[in-house]
Amino acid sequence: MIVLGVDIGGSGIKGALVDTEKGELVSERIRIETPQPATPEAVAKTLKDLVSRFDYNGPVGCGFPATVHHGTAFTAANIDKTWINTPAEKLFTETTGLDCYVLNDADAAGIAEVEFGAGRNVPGVVMMITIGTGLGSAIFVDGKLFPNTELGHLILNDDIAEHYCSDSARQRHELSWKKWGKRFNKYLHRLEFLFNPDLIILGGGASKSFEKFSEKIDVRTRVVTAETLNTAGIIGAALHAGRCADNGIKPNMEPQVCAEPEEKA
Ligand code: BGC
Repeated sequence: MIVLGVDIGGSGIKGALVDTEKGELVSERIRIETPQPATPEAVAKTLKDLVSRFDYNGPVGCGFPATVHHGTAFTAANIDKTWINTPAEKLFTETTGLDCYVLNDADAAGIAEVEFGAGRNVPGVVMMITIGTGLGSAIFVDGKLFPNTELGHLILNDDIAEHYCSDSARQRHELSWKKWGKRFNKYLHRLEFLFNPDLIILGGGASKSFEKFSEKIDVRTRVVTAETLNTAGIIGAALHAGRCADNGIKPNMEPQVCAEPEEKA
């Protein structure tokens, strides 16, 4: 099956057609700058522009840098705050006219790696950590995703982990790869202590420089870099959308709401 996968990020919105049986791109990868401010309406319009560049009218998978619960975005750590509580699947589906399935960006990257990359056929607990503007996380148990884990927001050194050791933190604090590697190693130790993974896969921009900081990593867990590189988010989003469509699942058009606290008697 050929499915359009899209990776929505803070600086670029990238898409390509994906062969979901092979986990490979079968078109060129098109990137459009993320509009600023990246409000829901502006991003939806850019997504529509991107989709129209492909001769395509099937389901669309969209990786998005936030918690996405039943199609609604609930957080906005590194994107415009107006995304909080936005029914993203409904908005994208209505704007593009195609069925859009939205999931967390790190979950999408993890799906690609577990299906076709470094996590393929690995039993037990596999963690994917994407290192970019933020820190994204995905956890799989025997290949099955536990979605929206948000482990970039653990507290480390009295700080939010992604403020302490994301790639943007490395740049902001002008840290050498070795200094930053020491920080990131602390983060991996915390993950190891809490989750005892069998494999940790690193993705996102900084993972390409793994050899520059790998000597600082001394967790007992095996740590490897993603094999699908910067296409992981696109491939995983396409796989997710393809599966939903195959199973007759429609995009969620009902905005999710937080339950009201029960009144005390
Ligand atoms: C967000 C996550 C996202 C990660 C990577 C974090 O700031 O909270 O939802 O997966 O950045 O984009």
